Amino acid sequence: MAVFVFDAYGTLFDVHAAIARFRSEAGPGADRMSEIWRAKQLEYSWTLTLLGRYADFWTLTERALDYALARVPSVDKALRPKLLDAYFKLDAFPDARAALRALKDKGHKTGVLSNGSPAMLNGAVDAAGIRGDLDHVLSVDVLKMFKPRPEVYMLVTDHFKCKANDVTFVSSNRWDVAAGIAVGFTSFWINRSKMPNEYADLAPKKTLNNLTDLI
Ligand code: LAC
Repeated sequence: MAVFVFDAYGTLFDVHAAIARFRSEAGPGADRMSEIWRAKQLEYSWTLTLLGRYADFWTLTERALDYALARVPSVDKALRPKLLDAYFKLDAFPDARAALRALKDKGHKTGVLSNGSPAMLNGAVDAAGIRGDLDHVLSVDVLKMFKPRPEVYMLVTDHFKCKANDVTFVSSNRWDVAAGIAVGFTSFWINRSKMPNEYADLAPKKTLNNLTDLI
């Protein structure tokens, strides 16, 4: 049995789609603010997990946005509720739906493994219209710890009742790919923005330009 499991934020869903909807209102600091928002969201997830603490990913998304807006004061703070609403219903990358559909048509199992809270994952999956192409959406929330703790990745083998080497894990986050390799998944890196390679001792099986290259 082949099981294809996707990271959500950055891989299926474009984390910069929220700011893209309000770029003209946000002004010239828009992209910098969005980069800081994403970086802090992840930093908070790693810090809490190392501390043995937990707050759900939506809460971290709100805290990270508050920090990013404070760091880039040229972006109007009145955009906060609009940006959060857009993040809850984030756009999928244009190739996500076709890739998932093609994998389902070939008879593969498909799933998501994400730091996202169940509510925000449901919001994004429904907004993207990809629910019908996914067998299951797994959230770290049941474990109250974030990626890259190995226990999180074992949610996949537990749910699909398969071995680690039955799983093809697909992520655009290079550190997440490294974690997938560390637990024994066949791992593909989606390098949309041509970033330099990292984690050389945990090399992906394949590096692809986009999700279309999976099919
Ligand atoms: C996720 C984070 C890594 O979706 O974006 O799990």
